[in-house]
Amino acid sequence: MRNRSTSVAKGDETRLQAEPIRIAADAEGISRAADIVKTGGLVAFPTETVYGLGADATSDDAVLGIFEAKGRPRFNPLIVHVANREAASRLGVFDDRAQKIAAACWPGALTLVVPLRKNAGISDLVTAGLDTIAIRIPAGRVAQTLLRTTGIPVAAPSANPSGQVSATTADDVADGFAGQAIAILDGWETAGGLESSIVAALPGAPLRLLRPGLVTRETVAEIAGEAVGDAVSGTITAPGQLRRHYAPAARLRLNANRPEHGEAFIAFGPAPAGVEPFRNLSDAGDLREAAAALFRTLRDLDAAGHQRAAFMPIPDTGLGEAINDRLRRAAAEETDA
Ligand code: TXA
Ligand code: MG
Repeated sequence: MRNRSTSVAKGDETRLQAEPIRIAADAEGISRAADIVKTGGLVAFPTETVYGLGADATSDDAVLGIFEAKGRPRFNPLIVHVANREAASRLGVFDDRAQKIAAACWPGALTLVVPLRKNAGISDLVTAGLDTIAIRIPAGRVAQTLLRTTGIPVAAPSANPSGQVSATTADDVADGFAGQAIAILDGWETAGGLESSIVAALPGAPLRLLRPGLVTRETVAEIAGEAVGDAVSGTITAPGQLRRHYAPAARLRLNANRPEHGEAFIAFGPAPAGVEPFRNLSDAGDLREAAAALFRTLRDLDAAGHQRAAFMPIPDTGLGEAINDRLRRAAAEETDA
């Protein structure tokens, strides 16, 4: 395994040239990581979606550290991660629909936006001053153990510099945060590969899908027994909802049936005759496999020095909605903020 991180950072000289420290995600390492979070530090940890960059959600200073490390605009609120539904209910108000969704989907790759409870004790920086809060109970041994051990709500956006592709391995995180004092729990590669679905359950409004993700719109609608609408455009300012996000340096062309001259070709299902793809997101045309491979492929395009890439069409059904959402943002020419 590559090791680009220092393992100790003590004393003044080393603090000046801070580097991510890697911590093995065994029981001892997770307990050390929990101490770092509890004392205001930043810990990147694997979840079943992507790596998160976690900090104590009750501490302004700690949360400020996340925004600084990511270079993230302050108006963008963060997801709060907790270990169980009891902890979640101390932070937000769950109506019947939200409770059904939480019961069926948690722990899992779904985030609920619900009204913020008074006296929840969460830093205003986490919610960006909104009266709502985004909450998730992640699955997976490392995230669960970390959250249970800290015993506090952990704010964690995806562990990548703002606007860049989300990290699915400890190496990706180390690359993104070179020169920064963060700890990285070196666990298994994140399995899902795309961020959680974000669903808003707010009083007097239909359920809304703010960000498609690993749990499909259809699944949420079935659980809640009501249709799940779209975000009302312009009402939520969130990086994952910006037009250009998850962006590699390469320019992307979508829904391409063949590569043009100079383009790397990304297939989904059987590649066209005579075309040697740079990568196939899934030979079998399986959406789950494609979701898991997407961010790795975007990173590998840049690493291989490709300036242009063409992606084969991906069906817009089920998990395809989330994959196409990320691809459209990655392909957009300009940021809108
Ligand atoms: O899978 C995931 O969700 C990962 C892992 C680490 O849990 N986290 C993640 O966080 O993707 P982040 O910060 O990259 O995306 C969180 C999204 C942002 O688009 C943010 O604006 C939105 O959630 N969000 C947070 N609080 C919100 C709120 N109160 N209302 C609407 N959107 C909110
Ligand atoms: Mg993100």
